[in-house]
Amino acid sequence: MQRIQYHKYGGSEVMRLEDFTLDAPGEGEVAVAVRYAAINPIDWKMRDGMMKLVTGRSFPRGMGMDLSGVVTAIGKGVTRFKVGDAVFGLARFKQTGALGEAALAKEIALGKKPFDLTFEDAACLGTPGVTAWNALVDKARLKAGQHVFINGCAGAVGEAAVQIARLLGAHVSGSCSAESMDRALSFQILKVYDYRVTDPAEIVEKFDVVFDAAATLSTAVGVGMLRKGGTFATVDPTPIRFLRGLFDKRVKPIVATPRADLLDTLAHAARDKGFRLPVAQIVPLRDAIALIAALEGGRKLRGKAVVAIG
Ligand SMILES: NC(=O)c1ccc[n+]([C@@H]2O[C@H](COP(=O)([O-])OP(=O)(O)OC[C@H]3O[C@@H](n4cnc5c(N)ncnc54)[C@H](OP(=O)(O)O)[C@@H]3O)[C@@H](O)[C@H]2O)c1
Repeated sequence: MQRIQYHKYGGSEVMRLEDFTLDAPGEGEVAVAVRYAAINPIDWKMRDGMMKLVTGRSFPRGMGMDLSGVVTAIGKGVTRFKVGDAVFGLARFKQTGALGEAALAKEIALGKKPFDLTFEDAACLGTPGVTAWNALVDKARLKAGQHVFINGCAGAVGEAAVQIARLLGAHVSGSCSAESMDRALSFQILKVYDYRVTDPAEIVEKFDVVFDAAATLSTAVGVGMLRKGGTFATVDPTPIRFLRGLFDKRVKPIVATPRADLLDTLAHAARDKGFRLPVAQIVPLRDAIALIAALEGGRKLRGKAVVAIG
């Protein structure tokens, strides 16, 4: 079997497509024959070593977080899945490895793939869906009738957030680039600002929730956009923000945290409410390293980059 892996932390030059042997799934884990993997910025951030305090120093390390596929083995204590189930979600955080022919995942980080959701669409939902749900529902407690501003509303996390906010019955405004404007306008949300034209700090309106899904807002700007009692959630969870969040309840740094009920909710939203992220490009595993390098080098795709594997 092959996967994309690396033998030391570093830039795109450390990625290799190599043979590997999958460990047997441990307690609470599931082995998945990967059909599709979706690329996220966290894939290269982890490979760069940005989270090495958490991810440790054991190499080689597989790459890739988000996957869809079919369960091939289950570890001790697994109750939610059986061999042959079609699943989607996140690979193990510390070892990852979605960009390979097989990967291990915790059962709580997987959901059953709805029958009419394709494997390629299913692969896109994990990290963006979990992150947006953590921010809007778990931390900000967004409610019907409230108004949320989503900074970066046409990115993967942003677009997942727009859909979740609308499912909750909230009013949505957001920001994106001129290049993404047509797509953002197709979401039929209240107002979309071009972030190169309008500095969010200058937006006069105030919001119940500001969700920075692009990691570009300062805490001062995010908090300054809030109505009284509002929440600023951000995908940029710096230590200083965690510190501030201890005494300023408005500030909620987000670290994507999958749970069984959340993955089930995303699966139901996909099945019943059309929750999807657009796929912009699909490449075979042999071309994935070049695509990851291009994306981290600044190449823009209007939608998810997906790798066809099995
Ligand atoms: N903390 C966590 O647990 C967590 C989890 C998931 C993701 N993240 C982080 O969240 C960020 C977004 O991830 P993603 O997967 O959604 O990436 P993505 O699909 O590449 O989306 C990023 C979006 O940000 C927009 N953007 C860039 N500069 C902006 C600005 N100044 N103002 C407003 N929007 C701007 C881009 O718009 P244009 O392309 O139109 O310029 C793009 O749509 C990344 O930094 C990622 O590492 C964190």
